[in-house]
Amino acid sequence: MKTLDNCSLRGHNTFGIDAQAAHFVEYDSVDELQMFVGRRAANGDTTPLLHIGGGSNLLFLGDYAGTILHSTMRDITVTANEGDYVYVRVSAGIIWDDWVQYAVDSHWHGLENLSAIPGEVGAAAVQNIGAYGSEAKDFILFVDTVDLETGAIRHFTNEECRYGYRDSIFKNELRGRYAVTHVHFRLTHDFRPRLEYGGIRRALAEHDIDEVNLTAEQLRQTIIDIRHAKLPDPATLGNAGSFFKNPIVERSIYEHIRQSYPDAPHYEVDADRVKIPAGWMIEQCGWKGKVTGHVGVYEKQALVIVNIGGATGMEVSDLCKSIQADVESHFGIHIEPEVNFI
Ligand code: EPU
Repeated sequence: MKTLDNCSLRGHNTFGIDAQAAHFVEYDSVDELQMFVGRRAANGDTTPLLHIGGGSNLLFLGDYAGTILHSTMRDITVTANEGDYVYVRVSAGIIWDDWVQYAVDSHWHGLENLSAIPGEVGAAAVQNIGAYGSEAKDFILFVDTVDLETGAIRHFTNEECRYGYRDSIFKNELRGRYAVTHVHFRLTHDFRPRLEYGGIRRALAEHDIDEVNLTAEQLRQTIIDIRHAKLPDPATLGNAGSFFKNPIVERSIYEHIRQSYPDAPHYEVDADRVKIPAGWMIEQCGWKGKVTGHVGVYEKQALVIVNIGGATGMEVSDLCKSIQADVESHFGIHIEPEVNFI
């Protein structure tokens, strides 16, 4: 176990916010994590505790007075092979895209559309990351956790995780209570590409890739190219991917918007509801490419807030509020951040 005091969090959040944590603890095994929890309980330590992954969905509003926990466990184990399915247990501390690459290289399929998403495997299972028509929950069978109050190990089935759009029980009722240590995936040996999502077929055609002979590597590379064209690389421009969730609204609200914007994009949710891309609404409000102080709205994708250098969490939060207020007054729709404010 490695413990650091007064540790800069700059390298631990993709926004690149320079906040400090009073303590930063890295553990390398479930035993070490349980030991840490046991010691805290024995000492009656009730200072705040926050478990982080790659920090790709966090916004530190200021310094963190408690302890930040991070896993450095890195193993990938095949637990079973049954017919078309392969079952794989993956440590929470593995970088998500390294896992996707490993799966593609191993000819285990399903995750291709989730290529190049920043963050780690454990956080992906908490956040239910998604892109291009796939979500992590489609491939997660169950999740191993450690109770941060008692140290007990608990397994959550996919159903018990109560997955929703960028949501799970770990972001709601059980927020902060459990640390995900491993995620169990079920992938297939057969490659069944998902190409319906707007943009994929177009990108394949542009690269002269024939859909019939498409390989998993080609699909992965296509997704990486689409993402890189639209989303800034946190290594050069601090950001947390989509800052807001796409709101799900009553169909009548969308129909009303369509009277003024006949081309307003939307996704069908069910008979009564549609999802409206928040990025589109933010762009209509004139925010795309706008910079105020050290923060701005990314010029190629209005759903992304960027740190143009030296931003504080409060500056990001203020920009978030201004955007929310504008979207609300313009469209009558409240947009919620996808990013977790700490
Ligand atoms: N749009 C605009 N202007 C913008 C941005 C988007 O008009 O500035 C329009 C687009 O033209 C398109 C629609 O909005 O008609 C949707 O845009 P896009 O396909 O870029 O996807 P998104 O809805 O903005 C979601 C996810 C992304 C994911 C993409 C692709 C959320 C909150 N975001 O974005 O996820 O990569 O779809 O599947 O659901 C993330 O969560 O961090 C993330 C990047």
